[in-house]
Amino acid sequence: MDKLNDLRKLSSEIDRCGICRSAGTGKQVFGEGDPDAKVMFVGEAPGRKEAETGRPFIGRSGQLLRSTINSIGLKEKDVYITSPVKYLPKRGTPSKKEILHSNLHFQIQLNCINPKILVLLGKTAISAVLNENIPVLKEHGKVIKKTGQNILLTLHPAAVLRFPKYKGLFLEDLKKLKKYLISS
Ligand code: URA
Repeated sequence: MDKLNDLRKLSSEIDRCGICRSAGTGKQVFGEGDPDAKVMFVGEAPGRKEAETGRPFIGRSGQLLRSTINSIGLKEKDVYITSPVKYLPKRGTPSKKEILHSNLHFQIQLNCINPKILVLLGKTAISAVLNENIPVLKEHGKVIKKTGQNILLTLHPAAVLRFPKYKGLFLEDLKKLKKYLISS
């Protein structure tokens, strides 16, 4: 199976998707990193900087995510970083309908990358991927298994920037991720 080819094909399908295109603006932000990554980080939707460049998580919250990934001893190039919603939402944040729709494309991307563990960053990632309302502050830091996929729930880095008291919690969750990767 040629993963890169499949991912490219999916990206052009998303470019032609009327629902995605009518809800969003700017460049498509498909995701980046190792297509054979063991870890896939999933956010919410691109911000302005991401929509200008086509790269995920390169703004302030992205810097926090990337520096925390590095601080636990993982390399950005060895993980895969994406968001379920692939375009900057025209209304700022994605609607429930857009979030649900994004899962159609996301599941294909997930099957293709096939990571050992998925890290869901915050409430939108959780509801997009699991279609569930899980209280992230209660359930963070645990590796759960849903439909055969190992998943770690944690906060979105933007929430950590907004509430700096959660910086330690975010780091501890990613340390648990590192432990999981070593032990599995
Ligand atoms: N926040 C996200 O959830 N995704 C991005 O790509 C950038 C910021």
